[in-house]
Amino acid sequence: MGSNGTFLDNEEAPTYAPSIPVPNVQELVRKDPFQVPQRYVRKVEDRPKDTDTSYLSSFIPVIDLSLLLMGNNEELNKLDLACREWGFFQVVNHGVAKQVSQKMKDAAAEFFKLSLEEKNKYAMPSDDIQGYGHAYVVSEDQILDWSDALILLVHPSHYRKLKFWPNSPKGIQEIIKEYSNAIRKVATELFQSFSLIMGMDKEALLGLHKQLVQAYRVNYYPPCSKPDQVLGVSPHSDTSTITILMQEDDVCGLQIKNNNEWVPVNPIPDALVVNVGDVFEIWSNGKYKSVEQRAVANYSKARISYASFLFPHDEVEIEPPSHMVDSKTKQQLYKKVRYGEYLRSSMNKKMEGKAHTQMAKIEG
Ligand code: OGA
Repeated sequence: MGSNGTFLDNEEAPTYAPSIPVPNVQELVRKDPFQVPQRYVRKVEDRPKDTDTSYLSSFIPVIDLSLLLMGNNEELNKLDLACREWGFFQVVNHGVAKQVSQKMKDAAAEFFKLSLEEKNKYAMPSDDIQGYGHAYVVSEDQILDWSDALILLVHPSHYRKLKFWPNSPKGIQEIIKEYSNAIRKVATELFQSFSLIMGMDKEALLGLHKQLVQAYRVNYYPPCSKPDQVLGVSPHSDTSTITILMQEDDVCGLQIKNNNEWVPVNPIPDALVVNVGDVFEIWSNGKYKSVEQRAVANYSKARISYASFLFPHDEVEIEPPSHMVDSKTKQQLYKKVRYGEYLRSSMNKKMEGKAHTQMAKIEG
């Protein structure tokens, strides 16, 4: 931090926790579509079940951002309920131009079609989280996810490590920036409404971040001949304040935990999926829930998803503001932690539900 309390523009990108290099799943499937190595096979109790909870997807709240921006109270109440009971909602009328999302989808699809050698020019080193590869792999005997990912820090711009930004297809770097800027606008607009439902001034939540950091993770889930034995992404809650996910319109995969059941988040064409992350849960003293999510694999179709994570600067100390704690009825549930420490401690573990949130909890 600068002497005047602001963050420096030339500050280097932070380093994150190491992850053990593991095989490329897309390549594994390309070589033999029927092999599912033992390292990917989940314990029976962790596998996706047949029970059809698909109808529950239609209960996941849908929020109209244009109504929130007009100050519509009913929509604000819906947002409050969505964050309390689901921790997830889909957003429509969010203002991201269809042409921008489509360009992003087309460019990503082209990127993943490149040869492994070509994609590996941006390979994630074992001591970084940026690049093309896998994060959160901390031991050789850990069960692996059925996916590969491209992970980049996009904001602030001096955190960008351009050696990990693909050069192919042509223009993809500009597209990532344009898409990320559009998502950042959605996030800051949503933050205004989140501030209001937390009983704060419109700009307060953004202010708590000191600097709004944005990371981008494009997931590639290859088809799997045994989708009932693997998971695309292990169950986890997000360490962010919020995450904004763009899904494909015609392939399902995302599931969220609600009332102890895994509920699919079926895509609504052109909608974005937003979820409450751990930081929002902590700042709201548990009023809003960062719920567990996972992704399942598909038998015949590959799926690409686009997750933008919004979170505070490393140096920010996160804890519930005093007005969210009413000592008579609601005790303080989380202690003060430096965000950078919280994030790294989570990354040093495999993704395992909400286990990583324990370090911020006050034992009751
Ligand atoms: C993630 C994630 C879900 C999805 O990238 O962290 O949970 O649907 N993705 O791809």
